[in-house]
Order: sequence, then structure tokens, then C-alpha cells
Amino acid sequence: MHDTRVLVITGAGVSAESGIPTFRGKDGYWRNLDPAKLATPEAFARDPKLVWEWYRERRQRIRNAQPNAAHGAIAKLAQHADEFLLITQNVDDLHARAGLPMEKMVQIHGDIFVTGCCRCDFSYPGRGGSPEPPGAGALQPESGRLRSIAPTSEKDVDLPRCPECDVLMRPGVVWFGEQLPLDELQRVEEYLDGGTCDPVIVAGTTATFGYIIDWALRGRRVGGELVEVNPEETPFSQFATRLVREPAAIALPRLVETLVGRHSPG
Ligand code: OAD
Repeated sequence: MHDTRVLVITGAGVSAESGIPTFRGKDGYWRNLDPAKLATPEAFARDPKLVWEWYRERRQRIRNAQPNAAHGAIAKLAQHADEFLLITQNVDDLHARAGLPMEKMVQIHGDIFVTGCCRCDFSYPGRGGSPEPPGAGALQPESGRLRSIAPTSEKDVDLPRCPECDVLMRPGVVWFGEQLPLDELQRVEEYLDGGTCDPVIVAGTTATFGYIIDWALRGRRVGGELVEVNPEETPFSQFATRLVREPAAIALPRLVETLVGRHSPG
């Protein structure tokens, strides 16, 4: 591929075929669980054990999962494009484990494996860094229950505390009502300012948040392709120049083969 500048935006649907539940889809987290009880600063203040339990369970599920063909295809596209950025709303590490370099990726909703202090700047890095802190690691099998979200009565669930200021630590994700991370926002803006893209691919997201649609539209070169990969219609569909109504692990490898082939020399 020559002179290609690509923007890919992903959401939970891209990890669905790795066995990671989506949020709003069938069997999605928000079908059975209340975001206000698990993914807000208020929820954490009210019941940090419950919130940590949910994140530990999700961490464990992600550790046990493998990247799928969609993650692989995106990593391959990144390798072949002259300029590439993935903006993912996913907090898992499956894009990275499929071989996508961190500098080509913005995790705009954070990284579930990071554990950060609620007060100061101290944090334990994600899986690429040093070992996770006590209490933030694997869920013990006997505590793997989240069918109901009644407050946990377990007294012995470790809550990680900041070694600097002894305040509770939290998962390094963006919760409802919180600002997006400024440094990551800046990376998105720099990429968008650096030139327009063709194609822009939006895969596996309901595009619930306005900034997702905004970035996709701003990123598109005049006359360029704006592809949606999603088995279902979303608020973004009306803007797409091409709709691929298939699971990401089927659609993306094919799409990437076509793109890489189209731009190969000879
Ligand atoms: P959602 O759960 O809202 O949407 C998942 C999308 O993936 C849906 O549009 C599905 O149709 C689609 N989908 C399901 N299976 C698919 C597959 N195999 N291939 C392709 N698409 C598939 O997830 P997100 O849009 O990522 O934020 O949600 C955005 C944010 O809302 C999340 O990052 C999280 C959530 O609340 C925070 O926690 C801040």
C-alpha cells in the first residue's frame, strides 16, 4: 500500500468472537448489569469491592481469551499502511496481542490492566509492564460470581492501595461521567490534524458516543471510503459509504486482503 493513511475505530464487537461480552449487544454486560452500579466514580465510592470484583472477573476473562482474526487483520493493515491509527474503545489487550504496536493505537477508554491511584499520579502499568499489584490480579475461582450485583459480603477481597499515599487504587479505565484521557485525546487530534484518511473503518461499535462518529467523519478524505463493519445497524450507518453486515472476524480479514492487494506494487 502506497501513500495510504488509514484510520480504524473499534468497539466491543471486535472482541466478541474472542469470547469477550459486548456492552449493549445480545448477552452484553449492560443487558443484565447496571452501569451506574459498576462503571461510575460514584459506584466505586459506594462499593469498591463490588466494582473491583467485576473488573477482576473481566481481567481474568481477557487473560484467558485469544485475539481473533479481526484483531489480526487490523494489525496486518497497520503493517502495510504508510500511516495508521487505531482508536479503540476496548480496554482489553487483544489488539496489542495480535501484534499492533502501541504507538499505532489509542485506547480511548483506558486499559483494564492498569491500576491507578484515585488521588495521585501513581499507577501500575498494564500487562506490558511490571507485575500487577496485590489484590488487582486474578479472580480466585471461588469468588467468580457476578450473576447478581448484590453487594459482596466477602471481607477478604483485597483492595489495592497506593504505595505513595495509601488511597484506594482503581482500574485504569474511563467511567461514565469522566473525561477522556487528555494525552490520548491529543494523540487522536494530532493524527486527524496530520491529514485525511482513506479508508476509515468503524468496526464492532454501536457508536453511542458522539466523538466516535465525529472522529470518523473528520478523518475521512473527500471521496474516501467510510466503511462500517457491524452485523447490525448503528447511528453511524447513515454516514458510511460501505456497510459490511457481517461479524468482524469474517469481514475484516477479507477487507484487509482487498486493501493490501489493491495497493501492492505491480
Ligand atoms: P457495544 O456493546 O455498545 O456495541 C457492540 C457492537 O458490536 C454492536 O453494535 C454489535 O452489533 C456489534 N457486534 C456484535 N458482535 C459483533 C461481531 N462479531 N463483529 C462485529 N460487530 C459486532 O460496545 P461499544 O460500542 O464498544 O464504555 O461500546 C462503547 C462503550 O460503551 C464501551 O467502551 C464502554 C461501554 O459502556 C465505557 O465503559 C466508558
